[in-house]
Amino acid sequence: MNAPWKPGSAGNRDPFAAFICDEAALDVLRPVVIELGWQSEKCAKGGLRNAIQSLSVAASPNILMVDLSESGDPLNDINALAEVCEPGTVVIAVGQVNDVRLYRDLLGSGIHDYLLKPLSAGQLRESLTQAQAVFSSPKANDPNAAKRHISTAVVGTRGGVGSSTLATSLAWLFSTDHKMPTALLDLDVHFGTGALALDLEPGRGLTDAIDNPSRIDGLFIERAMIRANDNLAILSAEAPINSPLMTDGSAFVQLEEEFRQAFEMTMIDLPRNMLINFPHLLADVNVIVLATEMTLASARDTIRILSWLKSNAAHAHPVIVANKVQSGIMEISKADFEASIERKIDFSIPYDAKAAANAAKLGQTFVDANRSNKSSSVIRQVGDYILGSSDELAEDDKPEKKSLLGNFDLKSLLAKKQKKASVSAE
Ligand SMILES: Nc1ncnc2c1ncn2[C@@H]1O[C@H](COP(=O)(O)OP(=O)(O)OP(=O)(O)O)[C@@H](O)[C@H]1O
Ligand SMILES: [Mg+2]
Repeated sequence: MNAPWKPGSAGNRDPFAAFICDEAALDVLRPVVIELGWQSEKCAKGGLRNAIQSLSVAASPNILMVDLSESGDPLNDINALAEVCEPGTVVIAVGQVNDVRLYRDLLGSGIHDYLLKPLSAGQLRESLTQAQAVFSSPKANDPNAAKRHISTAVVGTRGGVGSSTLATSLAWLFSTDHKMPTALLDLDVHFGTGALALDLEPGRGLTDAIDNPSRIDGLFIERAMIRANDNLAILSAEAPINSPLMTDGSAFVQLEEEFRQAFEMTMIDLPRNMLINFPHLLADVNVIVLATEMTLASARDTIRILSWLKSNAAHAHPVIVANKVQSGIMEISKADFEASIERKIDFSIPYDAKAAANAAKLGQTFVDANRSNKSSSVIRQVGDYILGSSDELAEDDKPEKKSLLGNFDLKSLLAKKQKKASVSAE
């Protein structure tokens, strides 16, 4: 199934859900579901339409059973389901039409199995056990998994917090350790350091794209992008600082679209001002890495950006990454920072000036130049988390679902800060 992938969602996904049209079938299904250790409440009365409605607003289950009995055009409706169902979900269809052609067509459209009504407990048990095995098996041969694209934007809550360091490092990791074809789009058009970090000339690719959005197609990006390694291509600019950015942002959206076709990962180095000027840039972004420092100003702007994201890009999954963390001498402590932003910091990257200088000297990304230091290992965890393959975030470290608006008590934070001046910051 091919709806936008929701990061780290493996942990939030229900193991099973069913939408079945009639009570008789539900009566057979429920005991089998309980036997397999799932909740019988996940067997809902309804058909394909209810499944589509429900999955368009919630995470997809690992295994989905859906009744086609009330569908006039099952194949067409299954395609609509595919639009809202996340990759990896194993779908079992149930119906009353005994037609081998329909069965074949359904399997061809990515359905795992088709069960004919009336359902029997044995048939359900067998199909669900098989579906479980398929769900847990490696997805290397799954054409849907191969097509999956993740788009990640890195935004700094303040200048200089290390968002470009993170964007280039993550792009490097995805392209090398994870062997994913990766596009790095550096939208800091005048002052970007993406190419510099990789010891490359930025070229004119991004400038040309901005000037001529209508020319952007597969061939254009192939020519305009600079290759950093077999799997990593970068599009950036070092636009003259006497020429202001003249664009309505359509070039960027077009580029994102082309990247989605040509790569498995898009990594956008997204300066804060671009977020304000071109909010639609986030329309198809799956993950937003908010890079921050442990300062009062960063806490304030983390709150503001999180709140903005909630209203303008609620579909995107924010990950808070504190960078340059130095225990003992931070402007505000981790606890105060988290209290003020009303959620946990997901990852903390230690300050390591030597490692940063080493990367600059070698003309390599931070993680490439410093393979075994602690900061790089945290950046690697961030990458794993984005790919949804990490359990790094313990359940109680998950962001709290509270309102971000209005509760930032700057004064109390300052008071604490002063009190703590004599004590160590953490
Ligand atoms: N964990 C770290 N420890 C020490 N230095 C770091 C760390 N992370 C980044 N730096 C350094 O901080 C400086 C700023 O980093 P970077 O350019 O990535 O920030 P930025 O948020 O992209 O800045 P800008 O707002 O200019 O875009 C760089 O010199 C970089 O090497
Ligand atoms: Mg930058």
